[in-house]
Amino acid sequence: MEGTGSWRLLVFFFSFLLLGLILTSTARLTVSPSSSQLFEHQFMNLSCEDDDGSAGWTVTRNTSRETRAACGADWGKLDAFFCTISYILPWDSGVYWCESSSGSSSSSSSISVSGGSVILQSPVLPVMEGHDVTLHCQTKSPPSELPADFYKDGSLIRTEPTGHMTIHHVTKSDEGVYKCSIEASGESPSSWIHVSAVRRDETQS
Ligand SMILES: *[C@@H]1O[C@H](CO)[C@@H](O)[C@H](O)[C@H]1NC(C)=O
Ligand SMILES: *[C@@H]1O[C@H](CO)[C@@H](O)[C@H](O)[C@H]1NC(C)=O
Repeated sequence: MEGTGSWRLLVFFFSFLLLGLILTSTARLTVSPSSSQLFEHQFMNLSCEDDDGSAGWTVTRNTSRETRAACGADWGKLDAFFCTISYILPWDSGVYWCESSSGSSSSSSSISVSGGSVILQSPVLPVMEGHDVTLHCQTKSPPSELPADFYKDGSLIRTEPTGHMTIHHVTKSDEGVYKCSIEASGESPSSWIHVSAVRRDETQS
């Protein structure tokens, strides 16, 4: 009898644990190509995934023209679980996140669509503390590996001969606003690089 009692207690306990996990489950936004800066006239594809799949979440955005605009209804095309824009333009720049029908939100990602000739390819999601991150300074056409200057918070930090910079074992002090420039081509927009200590974000990069 005592054994059955413990079982019940255990089942009871795990039911609560499961309920807790369901209630706190939150979606992740996946962006492809995976960069917080993109050249205009490209294809972009976004999706929401939580631990149970992608049902129930909508990719939502704020831009200079829209507030809490839903993919499929206000912009983009909903294609199965993917939200696609076949031809991105600078006014698709904005903050993107996943929102559930019950009103909960994922963390948001800033995406900047550039009509210029240089972009900084940097992660859409926060970089995990201790991980490496590589930033690419990219010209529009043809994509090249030209020497590039990298700036953090307005100061030149490195000049790299092949246009990409790796920060090893990222720490909180690497967090900041980054941009790059390539001589004769120009300067990229600026993007925040966030550093996170939360394990949850580790699975997407
Ligand atoms: C969108 O990106 C995902 C990867 O994040 C990929 O699996 C999927 O095929 C892409 N969809 C299209 C229509 O390109
Ligand atoms: C979107 O815009 C609304 C209205 O300005 C603001 O309240 C909200 O915080 C914004 N959401 C994000 C994720 O930036």
